[in-house]
Amino acid sequence: MITEATDLQVGAPAWAAHTTPTAVRRRGGTTVTNDDAREHVVEAALRKLDLDAKTRLLAGQGMWSLPALPEIGLASLVMSDGPIGVRGVRWTADDPSVALPSPTALAATWDPALARRAGRLLAQEARRKGVHVLLAPTVNLHRSPLGGRHFEAYSEDPYLTGEIGTGYVLGVQDGGVGTTVKHFVANDAETDRFTVDNVIAPRPLRELYLAPFEAIVKNARPWGIMAAYNQVNGVSMTEHGHLQNDVLRGEWGFDGFIVSDWMAARSTKRAIEGGLDVAMPGPHTVYGEALAAAVRDGEVAEEAVDHAVRRVLRLAARVGALEGAEPAVPESGLPEAADGDALAREIARRSFVLVRNERGALPLRPGNVALIGAAARDARILGGGSAQVFPEHTVSPLDGLTAALPPGTLTYAIGADPSDELAPAGTGFTLRAVCRDADGRVIGEGSLPSGQVQWIGDDLPDGVTYDTLHSVEVTGTFTPRESGEHAFGTRGLGAFTLTVAGETLYDGVQQMGDESDPFEAFFGAPTERGRVSLTEGVPVEVSLLHPLDREHAAPLPGVMFSFVHLGPRRDPDELIAEAARAARAADTAIVVVATTERVESEGFDRRDLKLPGRQDDLVRAVAAANPNTVVVVNAGSPVEMEWRDDVAAILLTWFPGQEGGAALADVLLGAEEPGGRLPTTWPARLADAPVTEVTPTDGRLPYTEGVFIGYSAWERSGNTPAYPFGHGLGYTTWEYESLDVAPDHAPDHATDHASARVTVRIRNTGTRPGREVVQLYAAPMTDTAERPARRLAAFASVEAAPGQAVDVEIPLPRRTFEIWDEETGRWAMVPGAYAIEAGRSVTDRRLTTSLTL
Ligand code: BGC
Repeated sequence: MITEATDLQVGAPAWAAHTTPTAVRRRGGTTVTNDDAREHVVEAALRKLDLDAKTRLLAGQGMWSLPALPEIGLASLVMSDGPIGVRGVRWTADDPSVALPSPTALAATWDPALARRAGRLLAQEARRKGVHVLLAPTVNLHRSPLGGRHFEAYSEDPYLTGEIGTGYVLGVQDGGVGTTVKHFVANDAETDRFTVDNVIAPRPLRELYLAPFEAIVKNARPWGIMAAYNQVNGVSMTEHGHLQNDVLRGEWGFDGFIVSDWMAARSTKRAIEGGLDVAMPGPHTVYGEALAAAVRDGEVAEEAVDHAVRRVLRLAARVGALEGAEPAVPESGLPEAADGDALAREIARRSFVLVRNERGALPLRPGNVALIGAAARDARILGGGSAQVFPEHTVSPLDGLTAALPPGTLTYAIGADPSDELAPAGTGFTLRAVCRDADGRVIGEGSLPSGQVQWIGDDLPDGVTYDTLHSVEVTGTFTPRESGEHAFGTRGLGAFTLTVAGETLYDGVQQMGDESDPFEAFFGAPTERGRVSLTEGVPVEVSLLHPLDREHAAPLPGVMFSFVHLGPRRDPDELIAEAARAARAADTAIVVVATTERVESEGFDRRDLKLPGRQDDLVRAVAAANPNTVVVVNAGSPVEMEWRDDVAAILLTWFPGQEGGAALADVLLGAEEPGGRLPTTWPARLADAPVTEVTPTDGRLPYTEGVFIGYSAWERSGNTPAYPFGHGLGYTTWEYESLDVAPDHAPDHATDHASARVTVRIRNTGTRPGREVVQLYAAPMTDTAERPARRLAAFASVEAAPGQAVDVEIPLPRRTFEIWDEETGRWAMVPGAYAIEAGRSVTDRRLTTSLTL
């Protein structure tokens, strides 16, 4: 059936869909915006504070909060990571959090309005947990595929990053909760992140790395920014007066607060003068008493302190933590409550990218399924590091498919384990932490998710203080699910005694190695301490005693160590053969492959893009046994898949959040379409990637590639990736029927002026309803400036029924046609002819027209 084209006007960006107007009220006959009214309260409060109180307010009182100042009615401002959930002030499962899919997944939806809904849910979570500010989103770019923390950022493209980030920030702030857009700026890799000096010329700095921050500041007015650990062009970001004061505040009009990344502030004078408002975490920082002393000694002007305090009070007023000020979002204006499970599932299926689907392998046809892979059973639903949250439940692929498939049609085989490392003690362990004082008296107890003691700052079990705490014992039982030799070990620094089934496996001290990143001690490699033969189903007692020893502890305020375990290893060849047999006996084989926490996490970069362990061998063996093999990739960022042409289908599922397995069943069985498009180029081999370097030389990492990263660099290099930026298949087909462009000098929305309007007509030519992401690229036809062959100019999502045609109107932002002029230090429109291309990815461009400016 062919229906007439329907005009789906997309006059404004998708994230603008549900903007709440700034509340206004009348006072004394004049109309005062809430912003104005809050400023009065802020100024009055500021005037009441003496120097000591002011400087105290600028430093963390502990790991996650600022001090309350009752004399001005200021509550303690509480911050928490972000970005996929709200952990709260405890690093434990005691108070679980909804875990949404990874930021790469959110970006793969190419849907800023969905990002906004994610943000609203996170605000709801934050309010539930008493959190005022979410330490998110991460909008650094995927410069090199080796960046270890890419799962936590959005994309290689600054425009897509800015749009998703804008949606996210608007959503969180719709719920009256602040954000800190991070890490400002150029924390694009993790190697030596505390010290690295990223050397970046003005053009790439503006056109790439600052661009998402600029877009978010202008379009979403975030209430906070987090200053990064690294330096840019020789200056530490927490001290970068030019970027923080002149660019962010001066040029872009940012009026929020700037908080340091945790332990990033190093100098009292340079930080306050460079524009940093808050030094975290406390209690030992370069602000507080040190800042008061610097003012008294005449080294720092009190005015600089006042500016910072004003910005913190403004934040407090916005989030409703300052008495007398009406919060930016009053209780009555809060968005409707959202269902976390349902939203997590929706985002997951909308984010899955189907990069290959031969002979209609997906959706699955009825028949027997062999599900294979360690991650199919123990899904990796989120990335590691500070982004970690503890969901109440998780749905693995095995759970999701078991629930969705007819009984008796699913078999499971582990096939290959991606990790040979010991992992936090999970399945089969029942553990608690017992705290004792110097006399051995029990002074408190705590529950333990996966045998991990992660008490940061003041987050100690009830009744326990650092002064009284002498030792922590992790104790309880372990009931193995397999017979054989089980390995046990420790992660963390300091003294440990490890006992399993009455046998002491270790009694010694683990010292800090040569890692420069203190978080490594916490998130770093586990160490095996011994093995014990155990029998399936027979519980044994386990204990890990950790006397506190300040000398060897990690340089962070807290107690952090883990009890780690690894079950019996079976012969890897035998496991693969068993999986191949299962695949042969089934109609379809589904292999779930994954990265591990030692591959993608915070504090280190990747060495390669390989799947860990024997997973490549596993896929090859399964594909040889069953041509109808579907591979599900559970990784936050790209991995090499040398077998990709030998399997029927490949579905990239990122770190899919707590409902990942349910969403996977929706998509594999065809109840829903996989909605994602690649937010980042997926290399076939690391060696082909044009920009890879993440390791500084003599402390410096020059961004020598200039403005060419991501697809721009791939196009320039002439290399072909496995799957290009923007690529992703659905379950229907699309015809791009027409493309028209008209110059437009009328303002589009307050902060950005459209320079042209494009109308694209597409038709759903398949047999089921579908959703398409229409991507517009602009390619300069006259070479008056050195710049990428094309760049993503704009995009829009469209839904259509079978046979239906839809017109979508998309404004092209001015910035598409501008470059940063290093001579004048301004944006400059580059006149000339441009090809305007509409398509399904950066390489699958269906229609082209031209525009002359
Ligand atoms: C990370 C930040 C995070 C902070 C607090 C740092 O190590 O870089 O992204 O917000 O820790 O957990």
